Amino acid sequence: MNGIILYQSKYGATKRYANWISEETGFDCVETKKARIEEIRKYDVIIFGGGLYASGIAGLSFLKKHINQLSGKKIIVFFVGASPYEENAFKQIVSHNMQDSLADIPCFYCRGAWDMENMSIVDRNLCKLLRKVVAKKNPEEYEIWEKALMEAGDEKCDWTDKSYIAPILNAVRQNSNFSI
Ligand SMILES: Cc1cc2nc3c(=O)[nH]c(=O)nc-3n(C[C@H](O)[C@H](O)[C@H](O)COP(=O)(O)O)c2cc1C
Repeated sequence: MNGIILYQSKYGATKRYANWISEETGFDCVETKKARIEEIRKYDVIIFGGGLYASGIAGLSFLKKHINQLSGKKIIVFFVGASPYEENAFKQIVSHNMQDSLADIPCFYCRGAWDMENMSIVDRNLCKLLRKVVAKKNPEEYEIWEKALMEAGDEKCDWTDKSYIAPILNAVRQNSNFSI
């Protein structure tokens, strides 16, 4: 049984998780942008990871576009965001991103990092601007990503932790003869 991890990471958090999963499974690890479906189809297990941006999972368009060519494969998705895990928020992100033929794919959350100083100017200014706009709203009416943005603060934080990959490794093992 062979597998591959496809990841899209803007600031490195998702990449770190992808590398940890690769270390534990021995699976190949490739940036989604560089992936070609003809190659990906050769694998039995495809683990797909992306950073969260305004509640969207980065790079998911690759999976949406090619899902019909991946029938019979074991597919797992993980996404990486700044906010702490919350079951309700998790479910909303899953239902927002994983529709139609993606609906039955198992999903996992790994907490990432936040460093406004290291962001691109566009992202930093966008975050500052959005915060100003969101601050005028009633906190009880915040969208999930708005809540994440307001909670993230200005401090540099790194919540990446290898223990987040344990459920992903369990999902790889499930119903397979793959021992890791
Ligand atoms: C413009 C912008 C939007 C973001 N939106 C969200 C969000 O909706 N939810 C969340 O939890 N984190 C959000 N984040 C934080 C990133 O998901 C977090 O920094 C993550 O670690 C990024 O992973 P990456 O470095 O692999 O791309 C946002 C960050 C930026 C810059």
